[in-house]
Amino acid sequence: MANPLVIALVVVFSFMESTVATTYNVRTMGAKTNGRTDSTKTFMAAWSGACGSSKPATIYVPNGRYLVGGLRFSGPCKNKAITIRIDGTLVAPSNYVAEYWLRFNVVEGVTILGGILDAQGAGLWACKASRRNCPSGATSLAIFNSKNVVVSGLSSLNSQMFHIVVNGCNNVKVVGVNVVAPWNSPNTDGIHVQLSTGVSILNSKISTGDDCVSIGPGTTNLWIENVACGPGHGISIGSLGKDLKEEGVQNVTVKRVTFKDTDNGLRIKAWARPSSGFVNGVLFQNAVMTNVENPIVIDQNYCPGSKNCPRQVSGVKISNVKYQDVHGTSATKVAVKFDCSKKNPCRGITIQDVNLSFKNQLPASAYCVNAAGRASGVVKPTSCL
Ligand SMILES: *[C@@H]1O[C@H](CO)[C@@H](O)[C@H](O)[C@H]1NC(C)=O
Ligand SMILES: *[C@@H]1O[C@H](CO)[C@@H](O)[C@H](O)[C@H]1NC(C)=O
Repeated sequence: MANPLVIALVVVFSFMESTVATTYNVRTMGAKTNGRTDSTKTFMAAWSGACGSSKPATIYVPNGRYLVGGLRFSGPCKNKAITIRIDGTLVAPSNYVAEYWLRFNVVEGVTILGGILDAQGAGLWACKASRRNCPSGATSLAIFNSKNVVVSGLSSLNSQMFHIVVNGCNNVKVVGVNVVAPWNSPNTDGIHVQLSTGVSILNSKISTGDDCVSIGPGTTNLWIENVACGPGHGISIGSLGKDLKEEGVQNVTVKRVTFKDTDNGLRIKAWARPSSGFVNGVLFQNAVMTNVENPIVIDQNYCPGSKNCPRQVSGVKISNVKYQDVHGTSATKVAVKFDCSKKNPCRGITIQDVNLSFKNQLPASAYCVNAAGRASGVVKPTSCL
């Protein structure tokens, strides 16, 4: 007769076997911590192991600096619980050329905890500043076509191009990240989201040379809360209307955000050309502006640098956008600007409890073209809706 104790132990051990994560420690697998020896192969070996494991798996990156080139974390994987715990810094080769540095594709249930990504973008920015023929640059961390991903406590330094991109994903949480690049570093958007649903960006600090967060076509159910932006170009929906056939942006919440010395605060931007794109259902709530060039702006004649502007009429339909409790200072006189499309005027714009002054004491002004909606509560500058 089988011993019940033995049966119980077998049950317990097989339970542990199936739930305890296998750990792949890149250091013990041979990665070097000197920041000079290329460890790309070891990181990829760790990923192969973790992704091929039928049990939950952890990749552990201990303290130290690891030089790595392109890391391709491709799925689908055999398990849906991979944790990448980074106590160290990943360093890109200073002359790295590719579209992406770290790229996840078709993964499910991946959690990235901690870590510093140092992309060493300065060389590429200098190249761009000198107008030589430069590569466009690599996004530091791209997450494509994936589901149930968490990025927590990560720092991204000096990306060549965008710091973090979420594209084609469902349920991605970016929390407690710190993005750092100089105010004049070109195209270093903090976090770019597009064609994705259920993304949240929480408790993060973004100082960079382009948009802190940019929200591209096909973004739905996006939640941004407790984010400090600056320097940078603000939190932007758009640019939209780049393509004739384009997916819309729907149900975006941006709350408890601060902007300091940024070019823009809460912005929606679209090119002046035909497009099927739209923006519907946005709540901007509890925002504090400090010396922001354009605190509240909808620009449907977007054309940075005024070069090769399409000079048509924006087809993007913008509706149901609410600004609630936004206060602070504008660095320019026009603190609120709604420059909407003649063909598709902005509809359902709501302003409630907005108090913006021009350089702390002078009254600011508001500017509206083709914009309709209503104002309530304290509204300074006086609404032009
Ligand atoms: C809007 O998005 C939020 C997440 O950001 C979600 O909780 C909510 O259910 C969505 N609302 C609708 C009507 O889909
Ligand atoms: C608007 O903000 C200014 C500057 O912070 C402040 O002095 C003023 O009391 C505020 N007005 C209202 C009505 O809240």
